[in-house]
Formats: sequence, C-alpha cells, structure tokens
Amino acid sequence: MPGRVVIIGAGLAGLSCSLTLAREGVGSVLVSPQPSERAQSVMAEGGINAALDLMGQGDSPIEHFYDTMRGGCYLADPNAVWGLVSEAPAIVEDLRMLGVPFQTEGGRMVQRPFGGQRKIRTAFAKSSTGKALVTAMIDAVRRYEAQGLVTRMTHYVLSDLAIRDGACDGAWVSDTRGGDTVLLAGPVVLASGGLSGIYGPLTTGTTVNTGDVAAIAYSSGVELSNLEFVQFHPTTVPITGKRMLVSEAARGEGGRLFALRDGKPWYFMEERYPELGNLMPRDVVSREEATVMADPSCTGQVWLDMRGIGRRIWRDRLSDLREECRHYLGIDPAKKPIPVEPGIHYSMGGLLVDEAHRTSVDGLYAAGECCSQYHGANRLGGNSLLGALRGGRVAARDIMGHEGLLRDAARELSGATRLTGFSHASDDKVDPSMPLACDRAADAAIRQALTESMGVVRDGPSLEGAMRALEGIDAHGCSRRLARRKGLAQAMVASAFSREESRGAHWRTDFPKASEGYHALTVVRTEAGVPVTTLRAIPEARREDGCPDPHGGDVA
Ligand code: FUM
Repeated sequence: MPGRVVIIGAGLAGLSCSLTLAREGVGSVLVSPQPSERAQSVMAEGGINAALDLMGQGDSPIEHFYDTMRGGCYLADPNAVWGLVSEAPAIVEDLRMLGVPFQTEGGRMVQRPFGGQRKIRTAFAKSSTGKALVTAMIDAVRRYEAQGLVTRMTHYVLSDLAIRDGACDGAWVSDTRGGDTVLLAGPVVLASGGLSGIYGPLTTGTTVNTGDVAAIAYSSGVELSNLEFVQFHPTTVPITGKRMLVSEAARGEGGRLFALRDGKPWYFMEERYPELGNLMPRDVVSREEATVMADPSCTGQVWLDMRGIGRRIWRDRLSDLREECRHYLGIDPAKKPIPVEPGIHYSMGGLLVDEAHRTSVDGLYAAGECCSQYHGANRLGGNSLLGALRGGRVAARDIMGHEGLLRDAARELSGATRLTGFSHASDDKVDPSMPLACDRAADAAIRQALTESMGVVRDGPSLEGAMRALEGIDAHGCSRRLARRKGLAQAMVASAFSREESRGAHWRTDFPKASEGYHALTVVRTEAGVPVTTLRAIPEARREDGCPDPHGGDVA
C-alpha cells in the first residue's frame, strides 16, 4: 500500500477526504477527539446548495457563482468558487446515491429558498440535513474501514505538526484518555471545523470547537486569513451553555422577522429590502437586527414569526425544528413568535488555502470550516456543507496527484515513532472538563476580549482594548493549548483592527463604508509571538478556464 494520509477531523470534510482517497485505493487515518456522529457537521440544519434547477427557475452554476461572490462581498477566490459551484450538482447526486433522504414531493426531489440567493437551490432533509449527510458518509467510509483502507483514531487530538524545512511530514497526535502520543507520518489534511467555540456560550455550534488546530498551525508559522469575518446567524436563542439555532429554513419556508415599534409589529426586513426581505444574506440581517434592537422606538427585541407557515410545510419540512422549539424553548412556533438575536455561527476566516486546498506549508492541507477561501466576507447558508464536502475531495485529489507525497509517507510511516508520556504534548492529555486554574482564567479572559470587541458591531477603541487585554493574559502557567489559543485570539483581533472599512460580517462604526483599498485578503502570521497582518490580492478570475466575471451577475 502507498503511504497513508493523516486527516485531522472526522466531520464532513474529513470523511469526504477519506472517502475520495479510499475510492482510489489510498489509505487514510481519521484522527478526531469525538466520533464522527458528534462532529459539528451534524448540527448543520437547513440544507446544501447545488444548481440542480429542480424548481424550474432556470438556475445554473453561473447563478450560484454570482450569488456566492456577491454574498461574500467579492473577497472569495473566484476560481475556487467556480470549482465549488460547478461540482455541486455531482456532489449532491453522489450523496443521493449514498442514501441521503433528500426531501421529495410527489416522488421528485425538491429544493427550498435560502438566504442571499436569487434562485431556489438548497437541497435538504427536513431541517436535519447535516445529520443525514454525516450518517450516509459514515456508512460509506465504514466499508473501507472494513477493508483496512481507513483507520480511525477516535479520542485523539492534534498535538503538534511535524514541520521540517518548510514542509509538513506528519502530525503528533495524543490520546485524550491519558494514553500515548504518536507521530503519524504523511501528508496532513486539517479538517477540524471552525473556531466559534473560542467565544464560549455565544455559539450555535459545538463549544469544543475552539480553534485549537488552527492555533497550532498558526503557532507553527502557517498563514491564516480573513479572521475578522465571523458570521453571526440572525436567528439564535440563548439556552443553557450555548445558542440554539433556529434554521434559516424557517425564513426560507415563510418565517418573518419583526420588532415592536410604537406597540405594533414592524416587519423591518420586508420594508427595507423588498426583493429578498427576510432572506437577505446573514451579515445584512444580523446588522439590521442589531440596529433595530438599539432603536429607542422599539423594545430591544426581535421576533421570528412563523405563524403563517402552513400545516403541510410544518409536517413535511420543519417537523424537527418545531419539536426543538417546543422542547428547548417551550414555544410552539406555529402558534407563537420566537424571540431571536444574532449568535456566532461560522468563521469565514481560517487557514489560508489555495485552489487545491494547500496551506502555506508544503504537505499541509486544510478543508471545511477551518480553512478560508470560498466564502469571502460572508458565507451563504447552504454553502458550508458543500464547501466541506468539496474541500475534502479537492485536497484528496491533489495529494493523489503528487506521488512523491505518498511515497515519502510510506517510507516515513515504517519508522513512525510511538512515544509514551512524551513531554511536549502532555498538556493535551488534560481532561478539558477539568482545566488548570490558569487555563480557566485565560479562557475566560479570551472570551471576554473577543465578545467585547468582535461582535456584530466593532470599532477601533474596543479592538485596541481587546488587544491590550489579550496581551495582558499571563499564559506562562497555562497549558500549551491555552497559550496557543491566546495567540489565535490575538490574530483575530489584529486582523479586525487592521481592516479599516466595513464589509460583509465586519462592520466598524468608525469606518462605516467599504473601501476599495481593502478589496483584498487579510493574511496574518506570527513573528516572534506577535501577529503581523498584510493585505494580499485576491486571485484574478481565470476566464480562459471558464470562470465567469465575478461582477457579471450584478444588477445595475
Ligand atoms: O440556518 C441554517 O440552517 C444554517 C445553515 C448553514 O449555516 O449553512
């Protein structure tokens, strides 16, 4: 067997990478702190985008491309986005063949409207699409586990990257149950999910996704980009320890946002944005909600009104959402509006990758929410599951196209070292539910600094305050995990401070307009422990390869 690929993360991006390799007879090791069934991907609700044109609206990949580029305020890599939208129909067809129960009506698959899109193109399985996809992918990968092509290392976390002479040769991974630290040699694909958990209970996602893998890469010199673009989902509700997501599907199926102004319901999105109304891109909706909540003529609260949704839609398309609202909020959304507010949902920024999902270090790839590429300044709902699946595929294909990478891995693997109690990784074995006192204090300070400075609305003084607060955290007595998390938080705030404009999910009251000078990526790397940010040009659309003009879909 040729060498194996080391995949850090067993959610959709990791599974997709592993499956793509296995189908070609190439092995992989799936390393993850939790089983795939508990990955963040399971929590994705509303659907996956693909221009299948099932609703007879003349949809096409070009339309999907324009919506994605426009939604991301033109900061996404157009060539990568063109690849994404072009491959989307085949990805959804593959999922269907793997048994994903996409919604059908009268025996035909159907799609639903989603935010920021001018055509109906979101395929879905009620409002549990992520769970349906992950279940099918686990099943598909399991066949190759049985053949020995895929090995699972569950309850292991990345401890360090083995980077030598600017190239990544493998990864050190540690058993979180107090066992070994092992060096796995081979090309490495980081597919560890987002970093929203670094904010703590403000996230709709899993609070264990604290960006620690990105933090390890960053501390090893790998470039990150666009960390200032943190997506706030407009319809979340605080519940114990986190935010409950009320899927955008609710608005796709007819849910309406309102505030009480002078005692009367005011459907502000419909009034302000007659074309897309409640389905404007998430950055716009969250910003409007923040504005309305601060408006003294309103009551400081926004509601989601789903009373107009018909019985058949509730039964066939949203029964699980209704059940969740009843269970967690004690509200039947068919009868009573739900109080909602913006909550942290997704990170558009992360490990900077090129079109082949290569990071700035040879032999190191990234896919899924931990990387930054497809979504620019704001992601469209329904593009994250798609991006994760495609990212895994593309990274796998690129690795297989570089025979040398796998050959080297085969040689190295035979000499892989198994170390017990290897000291540099010992803190990874600390039970995360019982952090050291220093970790707990540092974590709380990081959350506070980010929450106070990097919300829906930002400004220079609060970002400067956060930089000072983060610098002041004494992480010397902390685990390496927390010290590196502090570094990541500093990179996030430095990125937000350096972008002196408002664009997409980055809204600064001191620079309230978009500025052409910032039509670029923010790239951040660490130099002597200090985040250094630079602007980097966005790749030109390769028209000769069929990539459309990113602005071609703009309506005058
Ligand atoms: O609202 C939602 O169902 C979220 C979907 C997404 O983030 O893609």
